[in-house]
Amino acid sequence: MNSRLSLWSLGIHLALWYCHLPAEAQVKKVRASLLVEPRSLVVDIHSDVTFNCKWTGYPPRSLTWAKKGNNMVLSNKNQLHLKSVSRLDAGQYVCKAIVQRFGVVEKEVSLTVNGPPIVSGDPIQYAVTGETGEVKCYVAGTPPPDKIVWKWRDDALSERYTVEQSKVHSQGGAVLSTLIINNVVESDFESPFNCTARNAFGPGTMTITLEETGTYHLPHHDYISTICPTRPTHLLRPYTTHLPVHLYPTLHL
Ligand SMILES: *[C@@H]1O[C@H](CO)[C@@H](O)[C@H](O)[C@H]1NC(C)=O
Repeated sequence: MNSRLSLWSLGIHLALWYCHLPAEAQVKKVRASLLVEPRSLVVDIHSDVTFNCKWTGYPPRSLTWAKKGNNMVLSNKNQLHLKSVSRLDAGQYVCKAIVQRFGVVEKEVSLTVNGPPIVSGDPIQYAVTGETGEVKCYVAGTPPPDKIVWKWRDDALSERYTVEQSKVHSQGGAVLSTLIINNVVESDFESPFNCTARNAFGPGTMTITLEETGTYHLPHHDYISTICPTRPTHLLRPYTTHLPVHLYPTLHL
């Protein structure tokens, strides 16, 4: 009966095999250690990147580089070269060695790619005339933005608008910027809003159009069926009634 014991300590891996029953135990030792330890890197967008990784010891081992969460082999060499990196190259990379009769040893490093802020959000957002409206954008990427600015036409935004900022933990540390419109008026629907974030690498912008949703004054029946206005995908909440309302999203006027 064979059993195996693996020890992991400071990057040195030991395996002990008990090849026979304990009475005549024979211990074999396998060692795998990192001769060149890969380092996490922070680089600027479009630069070339090289990660180094070298496992040493006995018996011989085969080495692969892959991106974490993706099994595609990027390199079988000690070095992993990435040319002109983009935002999509950022993430975790794994240098993995297969050591015969031992198993797999691996070391993980991260690549951070600095560039202009990445601004995202819903390109069409909704508000109701006369109520408080909100336009939201998310700003992500490294380095963090120095500034997030909302623009509408070429004017400075009046006191009717205020901006709130908060961190969003579910979005990898992105910043949520919310433009709050006090008392939405018709003209708010006429021109798009720009959410622009800036850091040392330049600006990132997103243009958001605000569309109007209506308010229904429903007649007082027990059950009311109504239909969606121009945008059947956007269901309206019944603002002026507590009666049950059935919405038929596929119909429109
Ligand atoms: C909003 O952004 C678009 C695209 O970047 C640009 O063409 C437009 O001039 C900007 N508008 C304002 C008001 O800054």
